[in-house]
Amino acid sequence: MSKVVVFDHPLITHKVTLMRDYRTFNKDFRDLLEEISMLMTYEVTRDLPLEEVEIETPICKTKQKILAGRQIGVVPILRAGLGMVNGFLKIVPAAKVGHIGVYRDPETSKPIEYYCKLPVDVEQRDIVVVDPMLATGGSAIMAINFIKEHGVKNIKFMCLIAAPEGIEALQKAHPDVDIYIAAKDERLNEHNYIVPGLGDAGDRIFGTK
Ligand code: PRP
Ligand code: URA
Repeated sequence: MSKVVVFDHPLITHKVTLMRDYRTFNKDFRDLLEEISMLMTYEVTRDLPLEEVEIETPICKTKQKILAGRQIGVVPILRAGLGMVNGFLKIVPAAKVGHIGVYRDPETSKPIEYYCKLPVDVEQRDIVVVDPMLATGGSAIMAINFIKEHGVKNIKFMCLIAAPEGIEALQKAHPDVDIYIAAKDERLNEHNYIVPGLGDAGDRIFGTK
């Protein structure tokens, strides 16, 4: 079964609380999401392999370590996942970016795919799928299905807020995908929104409501 990491860090908890508040402006919401994504990326990349290289400092020659040539990609689930990309790229600037468009049907809450564009060499990369909200899990499961169909073997999922229902569904569908969560919430409501959550992440990032 996959690993579920719930971040337990005062900086992240503080910033998530600010994001939940309905009075927080769109700009501040976006900035906070970017900052949290940076902090989470630090942990999500903890197991990246290193290799030894010889360099020369102003003092002497020395053997030191740098990231081994493993290739990384980040794939936001549109729209709201876009809000996590810049934070990720600030920490891992060499990552390539793919995009998967999925939205939830407002009546059924079932995911509907409308776009997919992945790096050409995606099957050689470790992929981190990003989306602020894991509610029923349908969108994440569908996005990860597509990525696996393209031959990717090593996938992680990074989100801001998750409902227990979504975690369970994602673990069941993709037991090989580790899940990184800034905050685990109580439950889903009758409209499949996360409680207490933060509302509609896409609308709050882009100001569409
Ligand atoms: C939101 C969110 C996730 C999805 C989560 O996207 O960003 O992608 O809902 O719900 P689920 O776990 O039940 O699938 P939404 O469908 O609102 O689209 P948007 O990002 O374009 O606003
Ligand atoms: N999508 C959101 O943006 N928010 C939720 O609470 C659930 C799904």
